[in-house]
Amino acid sequence: MLGVSNLYLCVLSVSFTITDGLVAGQVQLESSYGGSNRTVKLGSSFDFSWNYTGDLNSVEWGTKDREILEVNVTLFTLAIGGHSAANVSQYIGRCLGSWNRQSPGQVKFTLNRIKAVDNQVFIFKFVSDDFAASNVFDVVQLIVKGPPVVEIVPPALSTLRGVPANFTCHVEGFPLPTIKWKKQNGSVEREISANSADFKINSHRGSSQLIVQNASTADSGYYICKASNYVSDTARAFLGVVYPVMYEDHGLCPTSFVATKGESVLMCCPVKGFPPPQVSWELPNGTQLETESTVLHVRVNTESDFGCYRCTARGLEKNFLTANITIHEKKSNTNDTKIILTDGVNFAWEKVQGASNYLIRLLENKFLKENSLLGCGTSTSVEIPYSSLPFKSATEKSKKRQLEVVIEVWAYGNTKIIGDGIRYTNVEIRADATTSTVSLIILLLSFVIYNLQ
Ligand SMILES: *[C@@H]1O[C@H](CO)[C@@H](O)[C@H](O)[C@H]1NC(C)=O
Ligand SMILES: *[C@@H]1O[C@H](CO)[C@@H](O)[C@H](O)[C@H]1NC(C)=O
Ligand SMILES: *[C@@H]1O[C@H](CO)[C@@H](O)[C@H](O)[C@H]1NC(C)=O
Ligand SMILES: *[C@@H]1O[C@H](CO)[C@@H](O)[C@H](O)[C@H]1NC(C)=O
Ligand SMILES: *[C@@H]1O[C@H](CO)[C@@H](O)[C@H](O)[C@H]1NC(C)=O
Ligand SMILES: *[C@@H]1O[C@H](CO)[C@@H](O)[C@H](O)[C@H]1NC(C)=O
Ligand SMILES: *[C@@H]1O[C@H](CO)[C@@H](O)[C@H](O)[C@H]1NC(C)=O
Ligand SMILES: *[C@@H]1O[C@H](CO)[C@@H](O)[C@H](O)[C@H]1NC(C)=O
Ligand SMILES: *[C@@H]1O[C@H](CO)[C@@H](O)[C@H](O)[C@H]1NC(C)=O
Ligand SMILES: *[C@@H]1O[C@H](CO)[C@@H](O)[C@H](O)[C@H]1NC(C)=O
Repeated sequence: MLGVSNLYLCVLSVSFTITDGLVAGQVQLESSYGGSNRTVKLGSSFDFSWNYTGDLNSVEWGTKDREILEVNVTLFTLAIGGHSAANVSQYIGRCLGSWNRQSPGQVKFTLNRIKAVDNQVFIFKFVSDDFAASNVFDVVQLIVKGPPVVEIVPPALSTLRGVPANFTCHVEGFPLPTIKWKKQNGSVEREISANSADFKINSHRGSSQLIVQNASTADSGYYICKASNYVSDTARAFLGVVYPVMYEDHGLCPTSFVATKGESVLMCCPVKGFPPPQVSWELPNGTQLETESTVLHVRVNTESDFGCYRCTARGLEKNFLTANITIHEKKSNTNDTKIILTDGVNFAWEKVQGASNYLIRLLENKFLKENSLLGCGTSTSVEIPYSSLPFKSATEKSKKRQLEVVIEVWAYGNTKIIGDGIRYTNVEIRADATTSTVSLIILLLSFVIYNLQ
């Protein structure tokens, strides 16, 4: 095989023949690369240029045949007829050439956006106008260099203990850098061996994946990817290994509530944890439901809403917690005698010894949506006209002219509530019948008069 330096001699010997003046138009290069090396940076561009004498017909730029001094693949041609770039996949759009077509003259080729494939030998064939003259060759070897550029994906990772975690290190550079993984412990960096029990390393061209097979809290910390060719570059990524926790915290919320119908209770499962535990509830009537947080909002509507609520919290590491939370019904004296109130009829209650003031609370029986308060001073009766009820509007739409309500009577002394309030649970408040009856009679009359005409 012919060495590069031999080729150089070959070029020289051709030139010598010409200077002997054997052929008049023989092309001569004033200086040549002569097979020497040129170092170029990945991504940069490189100019090949010559000054020449003689009658130049064309210059062909190509890759060199391994064995002989000849073009193997043509990349670009400068000719009397014009310039042409060849259709070679890795070189499309990267080759340029210029020639001032004088004698003596200048020729220049440019290779842009240097890639790894350009790390090879290029040959330039100078053809003379005179077919009797020999071709002149020049040869250059490009030595491509690209420092490593390293990136770890993801740059930070948080994982649960006991599961695998992985980082991928992407590396660019030429020559292709070698990749090493290291674990940082304080100021000490320890190389991770590819066949260790705790780690697995999958290497590919230009990337390497580090798998922490079973993350433990000791695996937390910085991992370093080091890539080296003629220089080195490193990148760091952080692995945070957390373990799930779940614990009871009875300070969070009470386990017992007292409420009456119509009230709301905000109960919670007495548990905290990371990640937040999954909480499910069993209601007093046996219904199961899940909540997104540890909180359950209960509106006490019916008798069956009192009782025991059981919450179950599930952590990630299969730990469970159950807790009972109870809603007790607020004790009060109830009076379930049927009471019907129409306009003009007072609602009356029993006098309480020592009371200086009474407070009346009205609760709509069926929906328990709203309630209203009436202050009554020392009198033991009050009129509650249907038209004054704040929650009648909902039922008015359905033309209902009566409401079932619960009335609570609370007696106040000078400084405090006296005894338990009395609940009247069976009260019906009706709209005055006369107004609607009157209008019905008027309507009937006008109907008769209309028909008589
Ligand atoms: C050019 O580079 C090649 C490859 O790196 C090397 O083998 C050769 O010796 C170098 N030639 C010269 C003349 O420096
Ligand atoms: C060609 O000649 C010009 C001036 O005559 C000079 O500036 C230039 O550097 C020369 N180029 C080469 C490649 O020798
Ligand atoms: C010449 O080019 C062909 C294809 O482009 C390639 O397969 C071959 O290896 C080259 N030969 C030499 C000696 O460089
Ligand atoms: C370049 O060559 C490829 C295949 O080698 C072909 O598909 C493409 O059409 C060619 N382009 C031109 C401009 O000739
Ligand atoms: C992960 O490590 C823990 C503690 O060392 C061990 O109990 C567990 O079995 C391991 N899991 C796997 C999948 O190897
Ligand atoms: C590496 O982690 C990613 C994201 O967490 C995951 O999709 C992928 O399956 C993991 N690969 C291996 C080999 O564990
Ligand atoms: C980190 O370094 C400290 C002290 O140098 C050592 O005690 C500890 O075991 C090291 N941890 C790991 C995971 O190697
Ligand atoms: C149980 O109670 C809840 C809340 O009051 C209610 O939504 C649900 O319909 C009830 N289920 C049964 C079967 O009564
Ligand atoms: C909750 O109540 C049930 C029965 O009502 C009982 O079996 C269970 O032990 C209680 N759980 C707790 C944590 O108090
Ligand atoms: C219930 O209230 C009504 C009306 O105030 C009253 O007449 C009746 O005696 C009370 N019943 C009882 C058991 O207190």
